[in-house]
Amino acid sequence: MGMNITPPPYKIKVIEPIKIIPVQERVKAIRVAHFNTFLLQSEDVFIDLLTDSGTSAMSDNQWAGIMLGDEAYAGSKNFRHLEEAIREIYGFPYIVPTHQGRGAEHIMSQALIKKGDHVPNNLYFTTRRAHQELAGGEWCDVSVPEATDPESVYPFKGNIDLSSLEQCIKRCNDTGSRIPYISMEASLNMAGGQPFSLRNLHGVRSLASAYNIPLYIDATRLVENAYFIKQREEHYAEWTVARIVKKICSLCDGITVSAKKDALVNIGGFIALRDRQVFERMREMVVIWEGLHTYGGLAGRDLEALARGIREMVDDDYIASRIGQVHYLGELLKEAGVPIVVPIGGHAVFLDAKRFCAHIPQNMFPAQALTAAIYVASGVRTMERGIVSGQHGNERYDGLELVRLAIPRRVYFREHMDYVADSIITLYKKRASIKGLRMMYAPKELRFFQARFEEIN
Ligand code: F0G
Repeated sequence: MGMNITPPPYKIKVIEPIKIIPVQERVKAIRVAHFNTFLLQSEDVFIDLLTDSGTSAMSDNQWAGIMLGDEAYAGSKNFRHLEEAIREIYGFPYIVPTHQGRGAEHIMSQALIKKGDHVPNNLYFTTRRAHQELAGGEWCDVSVPEATDPESVYPFKGNIDLSSLEQCIKRCNDTGSRIPYISMEASLNMAGGQPFSLRNLHGVRSLASAYNIPLYIDATRLVENAYFIKQREEHYAEWTVARIVKKICSLCDGITVSAKKDALVNIGGFIALRDRQVFERMREMVVIWEGLHTYGGLAGRDLEALARGIREMVDDDYIASRIGQVHYLGELLKEAGVPIVVPIGGHAVFLDAKRFCAHIPQNMFPAQALTAAIYVASGVRTMERGIVSGQHGNERYDGLELVRLAIPRRVYFREHMDYVADSIITLYKKRASIKGLRMMYAPKELRFFQARFEEIN
């Protein structure tokens, strides 16, 4: 395999049984779920790679923290612990807790965006873009072209294209449209979990400062981005991941975080920032939508688990083993000739459905069809990241058509990865048998969660 394997710096204390149901039942289950893996019952899933969100295994230290929940309505000591952890690891003074990432995105968008504003983003994340648009903003893409090329080996596909960004700013200046903030996502999820470089971030910071525009990062997977900087960018090989995380945060005005990823908890999110006035505006909003400003929709025990998770997530051995496992799976598939997005990302391996199912045109949802075929073949649950997730309204979409195999943190063994790879390699050899789909129903917003399909014969 060649990948330098770092053994996990932990061992097992509790297990949760999983079981594979027979293939005839899987065929039935995917039909009942209308070929949408979000609609499967989790008991019918063997290995769940739907998402790395909220699916981490917590440590004994975090579980011990759960018992120390201070469930007072106001002023819980667990919130103070969370503030201390965020100040120490990320370095921001002001914290707004939320129930999860989209709660933070909602408040950030409502607090900063006015109707007609333009918000430059490196590509998009589904919920982040939805909240920007619901607040009246217009999304503009300033990602580098490599981000949407699954075969490009460019090491920093999460970068912002600095000339696109400057053009976007100038265009807005000319037309009198405002840019409330620049939005930059770490470990760019929709491009395959791809990092930005510190060099690029410095460039974005310079433009933001020159035009006096705040810079807010989606730091949901910042630790994984920081690890890639350590691995790939000159000058940072000797830095700890914690130091890189701190450095990134020093270059932006604030962050929104879904704590269900990097931070190793099953629920939680927050905004952390430096601007006191903006903070106060957000704190007024959190009590309307989330809960009091010292719990934001979370229980005291959740705040404590999160405070502890934030300290654990920057352990260099842990993060090396976590991303090492993702790479192990990716390398198995790549070596067998299965088309995947390169470089292999931080939280997931992405199959390129345009090449995997070259016989299915994009308007017949090849990635969606592939998620269903993988489930039937193996009991493994994956997620569509293509036209179903990416197309907005009636706008044309010919972008990435991917299937994501997201790896939960500290959950599965190497044997699980071997099984997943084996099943997908076998399916790849029989890929001509995979059929396209027709969409029967789709909700208006975030349609991938609930859309229903049927097979085209
Ligand atoms: N930002 C990014 C980059 C995300 O990946 C997610 C969630 C969110 C924000 C929203 O956070 O789920 O806590 O409300 N991503 C999940 C995923 C759903 O599977 O990638 P949330």
